[in-house]
Amino acid sequence: MNPSLKMTKKEDLDLISLGIESTAHTFGVGIINSSGDVLADCRSSYLPPIGQGIHPREAARHHSDVGSKLINEALDKAKLLSKDLDLISFSQGPGMGPCLRTGAVIARTLAKILDVPLVGVNHVVSHIEIGKVLTGSQNPIILLVSGGTTQISSLTNNYYTIFGETLDISVGNCFDKFSREVGIHDPEQPWPGPLFDKVAAQGKIYHQLPYSVKGMSVSFSGLLTAAIRLVKEDKIDVADVAYSLQETALSMLTEIAERAIAHTRMTELLVVGGFARNKRFQEMLQAICDDWNLTLSVCPYQFASDNGTMIAWGGILKYQSSGELKVSDSQVKPDWRSDKVKIEWI
Ligand SMILES: Nc1ncnc2c1ncn2[C@@H]1O[C@H](COP(=O)(O)OP(=O)(O)O)[C@@H](O)[C@H]1O
Ligand SMILES: [Mg+2]
Repeated sequence: MNPSLKMTKKEDLDLISLGIESTAHTFGVGIINSSGDVLADCRSSYLPPIGQGIHPREAARHHSDVGSKLINEALDKAKLLSKDLDLISFSQGPGMGPCLRTGAVIARTLAKILDVPLVGVNHVVSHIEIGKVLTGSQNPIILLVSGGTTQISSLTNNYYTIFGETLDISVGNCFDKFSREVGIHDPEQPWPGPLFDKVAAQGKIYHQLPYSVKGMSVSFSGLLTAAIRLVKEDKIDVADVAYSLQETALSMLTEIAERAIAHTRMTELLVVGGFARNKRFQEMLQAICDDWNLTLSVCPYQFASDNGTMIAWGGILKYQSSGELKVSDSQVKPDWRSDKVKIEWI
């Protein structure tokens, strides 16, 4: 176990937290205890129509339809009764307004009925914290790569200070949008990510695409437009373009990661968020970590994309350091940046 998790008070050791994730495509319910043992993790994702992105109101409707069923399922899996829960945690932001509000209403209601503390956590910070506790990473440079976010940061004076980020769309969103435009679609998944990986792995010929690194930040929208044009106008093979897009985008991210390593001389790199699952990205990051003698940690596959367990864990950390959230302060924050959150538990 991560030594930073060692608790001093008996009651801290016994905390059981139920977390509700609802920022975008996924409604997740996770239960974790204060030693970092995952007791249950249940989730259901809204599947957008073919060729389309997430419709926030449709996703929110999905979340309210599945909410109570998933909470009961999680309690059953954990072999717990609702009275065993010590706190209810929810994603307060950032995310899509209608989706966030659905999760917040469920969390407030549950906390009120059970008469337990309510805790609102930052979704992005929770991606980082679950990655840290599950991999044992202590003080890493953090690459957060997902459908909504692409950031490189590290903890400085109790804030996750962002060195660089995307100036437009995230890397996950770039690959998802490309996939939708060129017909890479998996009806079983809320996103095309895993199928895109397979298509890109079949590509052989690299086609030149715009490479856009600005200081420590990156830009993907010009790259996306150029890649779509190669397929639709120049009739280049989809697998070759997917391969070229992947190599270009991931080289940009690897470049800023390497620069962060060179400047900070830190010894650990942690990758979190749904896109951390991309195998080629893991390979490229492993190569620079080998060169610089760093330890690479990747959030375990199941907990890399959005889930309730990371929210439950974020809730424990926040509750232990700053107590509960008043219902009157529990309005959702769709634009809540991770670098505005004081990290009081470290
Ligand atoms: N196996 C995978 N390989 C590559 N990308 C993936 C994989 N699974 C999910 N993704 C990508 O991860 C992103 C979703 O990450 P997540 O953290 O759940 O998103 P959000 O930004 O909504 O918090 C999507 O862009 C998706 O395509
Ligand atoms: Mg996420």
